[in-house]
Amino acid sequence: MARDETHDGCTYVIFGATGDLSRRKLIPALYRLHAGGHLTAETAIVACGRRAWEREKWIDTAEDMVRNKLGAELDHEVWQRFRDRLHYFQGDLKDPESYSALGEALSDTERFPQNVAFYMSIRPAEFGVVIQHLSEKGLLDESHGWRRVVIEKPFGYDLESAIALQNLVGRYLREDQVFRIDHYLGKGTVQNVQVFRFANVMLEPLWNRNYIDHVQITHAESLGVGGRAAYYDGAGALRDMIQSHLLQVLTLVAMEPPVSMDSESMRDEKVKVLKSIRPIPTKAVNAHAFRAQYGAGVVDGEKVHAYLEEPEVPAGSVCETYAALKLHIDNWRWRGVPFYLQTGKRLARDQSLVSICFKEPPQQFFRHTQIQRMTPDWILLGIQPTECLRIELNVKEPGLQMRTRVISLDANLRREGEAVTEAYEELLLDIIEGDRSLFLRYDEVEYAWRVVDPILRLWSTERDYIATYPAGSWGPKESMRLFEGERQGWRTSWDPHE
Ligand code: BG6
Repeated sequence: MARDETHDGCTYVIFGATGDLSRRKLIPALYRLHAGGHLTAETAIVACGRRAWEREKWIDTAEDMVRNKLGAELDHEVWQRFRDRLHYFQGDLKDPESYSALGEALSDTERFPQNVAFYMSIRPAEFGVVIQHLSEKGLLDESHGWRRVVIEKPFGYDLESAIALQNLVGRYLREDQVFRIDHYLGKGTVQNVQVFRFANVMLEPLWNRNYIDHVQITHAESLGVGGRAAYYDGAGALRDMIQSHLLQVLTLVAMEPPVSMDSESMRDEKVKVLKSIRPIPTKAVNAHAFRAQYGAGVVDGEKVHAYLEEPEVPAGSVCETYAALKLHIDNWRWRGVPFYLQTGKRLARDQSLVSICFKEPPQQFFRHTQIQRMTPDWILLGIQPTECLRIELNVKEPGLQMRTRVISLDANLRREGEAVTEAYEELLLDIIEGDRSLFLRYDEVEYAWRVVDPILRLWSTERDYIATYPAGSWGPKESMRLFEGERQGWRTSWDPHE
């Protein structure tokens, strides 16, 4: 459905509506959808929480969420209409009676459209029990409208728990009712990887093992774990970012052109990539993966604490806040091309980047000149905050001598004045419209767990020591050991010489 067409009204029921995700992403995104005229007049938002709040208290809290995130964008008149959509329901996730009461409340057809999306913005361990109660109390019954369930990541804790969760999900829901979120897929710049590859014919002949030396995918954050240690300490960077977001980006970089851009064809190709990733045997984990934790340091000129000093972090935790991985994709296109993935909190600055390093020319024609060795060509795709496409090439320096320099062809993906759409805006609308192309199919999740599972298993046994890196740095130097050959190294900067 086109974005400017109207969709049927919907009731968004958010479990965990007062939590961090809701504050940073969901409520501001719903406000922006409302402000942009994308929600039908009837669309309602029901926050479910444990606390005995009056509706007014929730409305004030939601207003703070929007103000903190969007600041000047919060418009008084627009807000007045948005607040009418907001409702609060007090309930206990573990208590079956709460679901009966919720069902009763939602049956008020005057206030609540009967198409209902249940959003699980709660601890992953609670997904199963909530789905079970929703089903047993008849809330997933579709006699009067569709019922959809949105499951936040991580889907499971490891391969085994993901399989168990899927068994439970499959018992109560049809696959087309399930929306497994990976919000990276809602980012315009991530979607651009596909457009860049499949809407331009120029690159296709080069996009393979004959020309590409290696690929890097980096997600660096300057922020620390903040108030999320209760979740994060049990997850760590490998589960939190690599199993989900970065492996998804990898599939988009590496996939074959799909039969069509429909959601199943796309996902078929992505799964093929995940299935082709060479399994990492336990004895090779240390050659393929590296983890570390941030110590104290300086970020943006400010002294910041070590991870171990953050609120709610258990003493002696060896939870990784940095993880790096080397993967090989054993298929016709990519055999022999290493893919390096890294992510970390409290790194020097925010930067998400896909960097494609090309091979050297087959002959070093210039070796008898001043040019010792050519710098490889690169293509960089800036995901955030710089949304840019860069191609780096060698050219001759002006002058009498044969010297080269690197020039870059840079293109901003956004024209001046063009609005930034947050990933969650797109995804929340897709859920209402029933479009699942930007959501994960179960087999994608399972194969992504298969990739990281051997590493998680080994790390879970190594509880005594974790390397550290100073907050504000580009991470631990030891991660360089993953690279094959001296000429490879992390491309953390837009500057090729940095
Ligand atoms: C979330 C992770 O899924 O993604 C966070 O749980 C991480 O730890 C975040 O900070 C990064 O997403 P974004 O959109 O802020 O880059």
